[in-house]
Amino acid sequence: MPIHGARIAALPDDGFARDVARGLARTPKRLPSKYFYDAEGSRLFERICEQPEYYLTRVELALMQAHVADIAAQLGPGVRLVEYGSGAGIKTRLLLAHLHSPAGYVPVEISAPALQASVAAIAADLPQLPVRPVCADFTRAHRLPDLPVISTRTVIYFPGSTLGNFEPDEAVALLRQMRAEMGSAGAALIGIDLDKDRVTLEAAYNDAAGVTAAFTLNLLSRINRELDGDFDIARFAHRAQYNAMASRIETAIISRCAQDVCVAGTHYRFADDEAMAVEISSKYRLDRFDRLAGRAGLGVRRYWTDPERAFAVVLLEPVSADQIRV
Ligand code: AVI
Repeated sequence: MPIHGARIAALPDDGFARDVARGLARTPKRLPSKYFYDAEGSRLFERICEQPEYYLTRVELALMQAHVADIAAQLGPGVRLVEYGSGAGIKTRLLLAHLHSPAGYVPVEISAPALQASVAAIAADLPQLPVRPVCADFTRAHRLPDLPVISTRTVIYFPGSTLGNFEPDEAVALLRQMRAEMGSAGAALIGIDLDKDRVTLEAAYNDAAGVTAAFTLNLLSRINRELDGDFDIARFAHRAQYNAMASRIETAIISRCAQDVCVAGTHYRFADDEAMAVEISSKYRLDRFDRLAGRAGLGVRRYWTDPERAFAVVLLEPVSADQIRV
């Protein structure tokens, strides 16, 4: 189905039922955080971004507002901007509006409604800009659509510290995919949350209004709705703790009692206080991030950070073969 005149390049394939069955059968239990984002989860995530404790969104936006002209100058003219994830938020529109003669915008997003909303927002703001949406899981290789104008370089935009939701090896795999997609002249512009004190971090993932808890537990409601589950949500709790050794917030769903749950006809046993891992949110140090990127053949070319060094927007570019670390 066309989206505002643009073609959808692929159909989604998410394997929710398969991943939930596998994750509930594992010891310890673990579910992928990408399944947080159904319509209700996406709505709750927007509300998280407005919570006073969740500084990430505000600081990254302020950084973009302060440095967008410099960032656009670094990226140069004729950019094909590829965004991983729903996109077309205020940061994306700000960046697109400042790019010099951009060749076009390619949002890559698995949710068709989110993609549709993003294309509509860009069309309203920048009606002349060619937009070629791709409805696909951005973690899998996909063919990027051509644009009416030949671009000088491909820049992959991945804001919001979403890279932090991937285990280090998965993050490297995703960076390698970006490296392959951007080619030798390309770049990636990535938002990363920086490591900091436990109190600030744990507050950000345990907001006083309970929005993050509702967001986490919505995963169980989604399983009930879509996979014929019978989770009693009141018998589970959200827990987000900082793991200083791993420099990350680890979010789990805790069973408040010993109980049985049935999903799609299969029964699963939860012990009292059993933790089911549902998300990691990695917090980076710039030197360690440069090493991580190096494993994917990329290096930090420039970065922009706030005075408190809470968050950074990092420009990665390919490094030559003899500089690649394994
Ligand atoms: C999308 N991602 C970067 C968010 C984060 O901070 O890890 C998701 C989130 N989970 C709880 N609060 C926000």
